[in-house]
Amino acid sequence: MFFQRCLSFLGFTLLCVKSAYSVEIDREGLPDTGLDTSDWTSRDLPPLDDMWDLNDFQIAAKNTLAPRWYASYRTAALNEVTYQANLDIWSKVRLNGFSFRDVSNVNLNTSILGFNFSAPFFIAPAAKAGHANKSAELSLASAAGKAGLLYVPSISSTKSIEEIADAGLDGQVMFHQEYIWSNRTQLVDELKRMEKAGFKAIFLTVDNTGVNGIRTRSLRFTGSTDEVGHSATFDLEALAELRNLTTLPIVPKGIKTAADARKCMELGFPAIYVSNHGGRVLDGAPTAVEILIDIRRNAPEVFDNMEVYADGGVRRGNHVIMLLALGARAVGLGRSPMFANIYGEEGVSKMIDMMATELTTELKLLGEPDVNNLDASYINIKLVEAMYF
Ligand SMILES: Cc1cc2nc3c(=O)[nH]c(=O)nc-3n(C[C@H](O)[C@H](O)[C@H](O)COP(=O)(O)O)c2cc1C
Ligand SMILES: *[C@@H]1O[C@H](CO)[C@@H](O)[C@H](O)[C@H]1NC(C)=O
Ligand SMILES: *[C@@H]1O[C@H](CO)[C@@H](O)[C@H](O)[C@H]1NC(C)=O
Ligand SMILES: *[C@@H]1O[C@H](CO)[C@@H](O)[C@H](O)[C@H]1NC(C)=O
Ligand SMILES: *[C@@H]1O[C@H](CO)[C@@H](O)[C@H](O)[C@H]1NC(C)=O
Ligand SMILES: *[C@@H]1O[C@H](CO)[C@@H](O)[C@H](O)[C@H]1NC(C)=O
Repeated sequence: MFFQRCLSFLGFTLLCVKSAYSVEIDREGLPDTGLDTSDWTSRDLPPLDDMWDLNDFQIAAKNTLAPRWYASYRTAALNEVTYQANLDIWSKVRLNGFSFRDVSNVNLNTSILGFNFSAPFFIAPAAKAGHANKSAELSLASAAGKAGLLYVPSISSTKSIEEIADAGLDGQVMFHQEYIWSNRTQLVDELKRMEKAGFKAIFLTVDNTGVNGIRTRSLRFTGSTDEVGHSATFDLEALAELRNLTTLPIVPKGIKTAADARKCMELGFPAIYVSNHGGRVLDGAPTAVEILIDIRRNAPEVFDNMEVYADGGVRRGNHVIMLLALGARAVGLGRSPMFANIYGEEGVSKMIDMMATELTTELKLLGEPDVNNLDASYINIKLVEAMYF
């Protein structure tokens, strides 16, 4: 539907514009919480006041960004079965809420790899934040810093390693993601730069062996599967060599099986990052909930020996609680910060506040005021076990 918007002065029409559309947006099956887009204008940033939950930011980004850039964030591999499962798994999990407890003082503070943060969720590495806002990763870094949150920029960022480090607050701790490039000079050089720029740990993405997933939704715009330059020969020997290239702690990201989790433990890693990459690599891979259950069943010693982080489809405070109750120490947000960044730092800060508020509220309603005390007593996973194990 066309909208005619006119500017008038003292009853005289000065100017009419007919380019704007009344917006009807396909919500892609996201939970309907009553977001009203009827007075939004296509390709314009909707009012920030319309944003009430993390999914709202996705709809706002879909309205605002050019279709190819929205697709580049939203896209996932093949039929997007894993992408969808990440969003759906939460409805299969039940939380056990307890009464008769003092929940007046909620604590979200926790440590990740020994560094203190204000919450057990963090901004996960995601490429090219610059498609959402000119400030790109700089607004993610400063919003995280002001909130006391961990940010882990992607090596495929719009801004450089050094620019992102500079955007951090004094004393802000950030980790950095790295890919296993087949170009060894590049790999060595980047690891050195990360260390020099003050990043405190490396999240090494190990689930992108040689290639990216085939992401049809974005291929329609880009035209071909890019030669991404990831090593396809990265075996245990290559891993041992890589670990010699930096003094920073390395956390393998993209662990999807109990077997790999145990292997990482045996290799002496301080932590692992359970992830299916937001459904963007192996379609059919399990969700974080299922992978954590697999590790609990088949390699439970992992939780005693290393920290476990997890991500995929986390959009609500109770999703964070579910993963923490299954043994994760911290939980990553991938797409949501990217979508919120259409408003720059202000949007990212609002997204972080929303998540912190939801988490605080859910903890009170659960009867557990401290995130560090969450354990399996708070969760019922029988349905997931019956379906997948
Ligand atoms: C646009 C986009 C870019 C991403 N880029 C990277 C990347 O460069 N390196 C990486 O390890 N993971 C990358 N990921 C995966 C995220 O780190 C994270 O695992 C995933 O997005 C979590 O799922 P969620 O988007 O449902 O929160 C990317 C994800 C998205 C959506
Ligand atoms: C969380 O940490 C901050 C900063 O160290 C501190 O000011 C605050 O009191 C802590 N909150 C709780 C509930 O312990
Ligand atoms: C981190 O938090 C712990 C417990 O809250 C505190 O004892 C410790 O001093 C903090 N460390 C730093 C570096 O602030
Ligand atoms: C490898 O990386 C280095 C450093 O980034 C770069 O100068 C060089 O051109 C790359 N080599 C190839 C073959 O791409
Ligand atoms: C790692 O470095 C150590 C000490 O420099 C060396 O003894 C070892 O052989 C190296 N390992 C690999 C796999 O390169
Ligand atoms: C980026 O964020 C700023 C600051 O919030 C905002 O004013 C601007 O409209 C956003 N968009 C672009 C394209 O930079």
